[in-house]
Order: sequence, then structure tokens, then C-alpha cells
Amino acid sequence: MERLQKVMAHAGIASRRGSEKLIKEGRVQVNGKVVTEMGLNVSHADTIAVDGVPITKEEKLYFILNKPRGVISSADDPKGRKTVVDFFSHVDQRVYPVGRLDYDTTGVLLLTNDGELTNQLTHPKYGIEKTYIAKVEGLIHKSSISKLEKGLEIDGYKTRPAKARIIDIDIKKNKSMVELTIHEGKNHQVKKMLKAVGHPVEKLNRDRYGFLTTEGLQSGEWRELKTFEVNKLKQLVKENS
Ligand code: URA
Repeated sequence: MERLQKVMAHAGIASRRGSEKLIKEGRVQVNGKVVTEMGLNVSHADTIAVDGVPITKEEKLYFILNKPRGVISSADDPKGRKTVVDFFSHVDQRVYPVGRLDYDTTGVLLLTNDGELTNQLTHPKYGIEKTYIAKVEGLIHKSSISKLEKGLEIDGYKTRPAKARIIDIDIKKNKSMVELTIHEGKNHQVKKMLKAVGHPVEKLNRDRYGFLTTEGLQSGEWRELKTFEVNKLKQLVKENS
């Protein structure tokens, strides 16, 4: 946290004295509200404007979280359950998940305060590949795999072409492991697709989001994306638009 007049001076608006004058004159807004008293402390998360013109650029942050089970993907939960945003309570800026994973789904989840990139990444048109590993009930057959790949109807909607493969079949336990790569992100899409071919999902993990994996991250751990990773995500969006 820093004094408002100091932040203004750093941003090149005026000297500290000059900035104090602007504040007194009622020309400075913090988060949309005019501030006239001296000595207010502000952080990176605050938007400061002079005569309505923003003077600072919000720092963009990008994180990858290995989401554990039993955590909700929205910013807050009316039932008071732990949310993915709670992992980032130490961060000044408010970050939001890019799309959602179900309460019981684990794996790769991105969080950022970059609304533009979020909109692009979650738009089906840009087709970012998401790869899931599902443990399902029953012994899955090749014919089901080709149905998943061609597209099938869920909730009156035909899914777009996908990639699928059998990883393992456990005859004794009557379970299968399936890898499914989709470009869309409809609600509960993977669970619904697998159920539609007769194999309800028992466990679901998002293994990859584009080129990003949870490699090096234990369940519940996160890291900041590297600049080249952010640039690569932006590049992917551009290539697909
Ligand atoms: N599909 C699902 O069914 N659940 C998820 O969490 C993600 C994709």
C-alpha cells in the first residue's frame, strides 16, 4: 500500500505537491469515487483516475492451479464452500477462474484478472483443446470411442468432433480409463458425453489445457504462468480466430 499522492507522482501526473492539489480540487477518483482527503493508502488493485482518465494500468496476473476435489470453481459460494479463488487470497488483485471445473473434478485450472483473454479462451470459436482423463463405469468399447469422436447429442446439442482413446480396461473391477480431448466447454460436458455412451464418470481429471499441464504441481498447488506461456496462449487464440 502506498499514499495516493506518491502513486500519482510515480505515474508522472504531477509532483507530490501538485498531486495533493489535484486531490483537494476533487479531480482524483479511486475506484470511481472522488477522493478529497489526504493520506489515503492505495494498492495495485485500486483504479486511480484524474479527471476521469485512468493513470495506472492494472497489472495482469496469470496462474495455473492443480485443482483438488471438493473445491468450487466460482468466485464465491453461497453455501460457504472453499473456492478456487481462496487459494489466491494473498494476491492484491482479484483473479477469476478461466471456465469451470466441477466440484469433484481435479486438474488444470487457469486463473487471471485478464478479462479479455478469459473471454477468448472460453469462447468455443477459439477451440482451445482440453484433455480429460476419466475413470468410468463399465468396459468401454471401440464403438463408443468413435461415437465420442464423431459427436453425439447431449441436452439436444450435438458435440463437436473430439479425440478419444482407451487408456485401460479393468475387467475384474468393471471399470475403464478414457482420455477425451474436446474444444468446447459446455456444462458437465465430459460427464454427459460419457454417460450418453453408457459409461457414467466416477472420477475426472483435466490433464491438459492447451499445452499446459499440472507437471510439478501437487494437488492444491499453483504457480504463476511464465511470460512465454501467456504469450503462447494469446498466440493460440489468434491462430484460431
Ligand atoms: N466436463 C465435466 O463434465 N466436468 C468438468 O469439470 C469439466 C468438463
